[in-house]
Formats: sequence, C-alpha cells, structure tokens
Amino acid sequence: MKLQSLREAGNIDRDLSLPTPLFEASNHAIYWLGIMEDAAFRCNCYLLIDGERAILFDPGSRPHFAQCVARVAQIMAPTSVTDLVICHQDPDVGASMIDWLDLNPELQIITSPRTQILLPYFGKSDYQWINTVEVPELVLPSGHQLRFISAPFLHSPAAFTTFDACSGFLFSGDIWAAITSNWSLLVHDFEGHRANMDSFHLHYMASNRACRGFTAKLKSLEINAILPQHGSILDRCFVPQAIDYLEQLQCGMDLEYPQKL
Ligand SMILES: [Fe+2]
Ligand SMILES: [Fe+2]
Repeated sequence: MKLQSLREAGNIDRDLSLPTPLFEASNHAIYWLGIMEDAAFRCNCYLLIDGERAILFDPGSRPHFAQCVARVAQIMAPTSVTDLVICHQDPDVGASMIDWLDLNPELQIITSPRTQILLPYFGKSDYQWINTVEVPELVLPSGHQLRFISAPFLHSPAAFTTFDACSGFLFSGDIWAAITSNWSLLVHDFEGHRANMDSFHLHYMASNRACRGFTAKLKSLEINAILPQHGSILDRCFVPQAIDYLEQLQCGMDLEYPQKL
C-alpha cells in the first residue's frame, strides 16, 4: 500500500483506538498514533518505521506517554524505538523524552542546537543526539532521506520541520497546527479550517516575514501531506492553499506592533 493521497485511504477516520497507517511502502511506513484526549488543543504523535529504525515525531508530554507507548506496542516493541524527533522545546512536544529514555537509554534525540540546550531541563542529559544543523539530511536504512528544514520563529527560534522524501510527508510541528473542538484526522474543508489555524497562529507565530522565509525553503519539495503536531493533517490537495495561507498570514509582531517603531 502506498498512499499517494490520504483521502484515497477512505475510512481513515474510522477506528482511532488503533494506530492509523498513513503511508506504507517497501521498508518504510508512517502511522498516526494519537493522542486521543478529547481536547481542542489536541496533540499528534507520529511513528516512522524504516528498516531497523523507528522514529517518533513529536512524542508528546509526560501525561501522553502511556497512551503513546500503548499505540506503539500495537505495532512493535516500544523498547525498539530508536529516535525521537523533537522539533522544539515545548513540553507538549517532547517532555516524555525522559520516559522514552527510561525504556531505551540508547535512543537518540534528533533536534536543533538551540532546542538541545533546553531539553536537559526535562530531567535527563545523558543521551545521544543528532544535530539537525550539522546533519540536515539523514539517510535511513532503506536509503531514503529525512531532510530537516529550519523554521525560525515559527514559533520557537529553534523550530525545525522534517521532510520525508519517501512519502513526501512534511512533519511540520506547530506550523499549520490548529485548535478546534470539532476535530477530524484529515482536513476536509480548507476554508472552514482557516479559523482553526488562525486560533493557533495569529498570536503564536512571530511574523509574516518568518512565514515567508520558511515557505521559500519548501519551493523545491513535492509535498504530499502536512502533518502538524496539533489539529488535522492536510492532504496533498490542500498543500498549495496551506502554503498560501502562511504567506498571507499577518501574525505575531505584525499584529502586536503594526506601526514602525
Ligand atoms: Fe510549541
Ligand atoms: Fe505544540
């Protein structure tokens, strides 16, 4: 199964008590793991399995840990998770890293240098980490690559996203995140979804300049889906609108300080 379009997967919203496969190709699979808490500020955790490598994106907070482990256990032994991608230092993104390190002290943290400075304050500093600035492209066992793309001030100065060249999925962290009490796994109505993204972006993202600087880095990529840490996944058909949304966005400093000082 290789999902060129997530919408072609049909009943993808149907059984959320199980890991939801989003992409599968030879030696390379991606799952949505949750989190299933019934909250408007819903967190997403994703698992990428490539050969012997099992990489969690946005593993989540400590309260999320038990459910995330349970979801992984429905696929593979949680002790076999090899890497955590932590796209910035917020606790909802990666505070559970210390619990994952208890399970497997050998696992590696993949993050940016400015994030790495802060992660030890979650409670552990004795771990291996991969520096996304020094290693902007990571070759997986299958030969496919992950590309780490910095996204400064969206919202963290240390933020980065990850593009999986095999699936064309962009793990976007807080970018294109959305807040809504009427949640679905996939976006079905982009126009209606704008307000959900506004709820997160308007006062959290730094500026239109930061948004445009980031989208300029995406020009050469063929993005099949955007997988944010909050809210709903944007399928390929909405990617051009999603990029346009960011390029037009007035947010943060644009709103707080609209006049030149
Ligand atoms: Fe954040
Ligand atoms: Fe977040």
